[in-house]
Amino acid sequence: MSLIAKNLSVTYGTGSGRELVALDDINFEIARGEFVTIIGPSGCGKSTLLHCLGGMLKPSSGVVTLDEEPIRGPDARRAAFVFQDYTLLPWRQVLQNAVLGLRFDGVPKAKANAKGEEMLALVGLSDFREAYPRELSGGMQQRVAIARAMCMEPGILLMDEPFGALDEQTRRQLGFEMARMLSERDSTVVMVTHSLDEAIMWADRILVMSARPGRIAKEIRVTAPRPRTHDYIATEEFAALRSELFTLLDQDNVSDLAESVDR
Ligand SMILES: Nc1ncnc2c1ncn2[C@@H]1O[C@H](COP(=O)(O)OP(=O)(O)OP(=O)(O)O)[C@@H](O)[C@H]1O
Ligand SMILES: [Mg+2]
Repeated sequence: MSLIAKNLSVTYGTGSGRELVALDDINFEIARGEFVTIIGPSGCGKSTLLHCLGGMLKPSSGVVTLDEEPIRGPDARRAAFVFQDYTLLPWRQVLQNAVLGLRFDGVPKAKANAKGEEMLALVGLSDFREAYPRELSGGMQQRVAIARAMCMEPGILLMDEPFGALDEQTRRQLGFEMARMLSERDSTVVMVTHSLDEAIMWADRILVMSARPGRIAKEIRVTAPRPRTHDYIATEEFAALRSELFTLLDQDNVSDLAESVDR
């Protein structure tokens, strides 16, 4: 099984009538069980790319295939999404939020609830099945969103800055829990993040995107076995990767600045 992006380009029409090339000829292949992180400067097209992978945006050219079948529209069984902002329904209890996609899909209540319970246990929220989202912390709400996506047993899990709204400590802790759970289940994951540490910590491979028009500037493999523990942060390998990413992104910002001065 693999997810393939082939010659993917996206051009947006803008309000002023100008066209904006958000993605320019993106190509990659992601194997089953691989954890890929995407990093790049703000506005480089990371969310646009993820939306194409999830079938929520039709690329201007090129194609995305999952197991050799083109992705033509959103289908949470094939590619499930976790967004940065908690997207729970405030008037529904945690379990009802978790099984939303299944129920939407016509799965009978008892069966959906059993799956929902299983996933809530996995993210450590069984005791909160009857709570409402407002009674949960940000990190807990995000765990419900992840449980909801996992309920669909998606071919691939797409996460756009899933921990972006959380404080550093919660973010790190939740990240470790999620990474462990996802690698135990051999889930295929593509995660956009602004955090260099997160990008390295969870990934088998990091895709570094360049500033507009978005291209894959570099692919970096992280060979240390997953799931990794806190100790990995103290390794030389981690430091070297961090420094490499830092330099790459820094160059990008510099060329971006130079470009805007030219205009
Ligand atoms: N619906 C849209 N219509 C027109 N332009 C858009 C649209 N969505 C995004 N863009 C433009 O496409 C480019 C890429 O946007 P995108 O949201 O993919 O970036 P990003 O890498 O996710 O940024 P960030 O890190 O800030 O979330 C930006 O220049 C943005 O202005
Ligand atoms: Mg984005």
